[in-house]
Amino acid sequence: MNVDLYERIWMWLATGLIVIFVGTIAVTTGLEAIQPPSHLETIDPETIDSHPEFGSPKVTIQPDGSAVVSVVAAMFSFTPDPIEIPAGKPVTFRVTSKDVIHGFEVVGTNANTMAVPGYVSQFTVTFDKPGTYTIACNEYCGIAHHMMVGTLTVK
Ligand code: CUA
Repeated sequence: MNVDLYERIWMWLATGLIVIFVGTIAVTTGLEAIQPPSHLETIDPETIDSHPEFGSPKVTIQPDGSAVVSVVAAMFSFTPDPIEIPAGKPVTFRVTSKDVIHGFEVVGTNANTMAVPGYVSQFTVTFDKPGTYTIACNEYCGIAHHMMVGTLTVK
């Protein structure tokens, strides 16, 4: 069968694109996506109230101006609320749940994790723009799931 040269070029280009796309998914899955952003740090959800960090979750400003925010998600709110953090500094969120799986998404940003009972999910982001952001639970967690929102203030 005679395939025209241009047609052959297009076929190889299309095949190359498919390999790149599938390869991207394979690489990010292997390196990032199949684990929660947690470093597999565990916590007993039954005793959170007396836990040294998560017993009274709060924003801690470090000497270098960065912040660590401990967050407990529970039906149907986040603690603390509102969360106040500095703009332009790295902010490390440490999120866990007291009861069922919740989501923790700062709407309009790529700050997003699951809050899984028994685990601490951790990620660091820098908010450059001051303002008020909505934190939404994006995992269905019960009858008032749609009411589960929090406020993040960046100053
Ligand atoms: Cu918490 Cu949905």
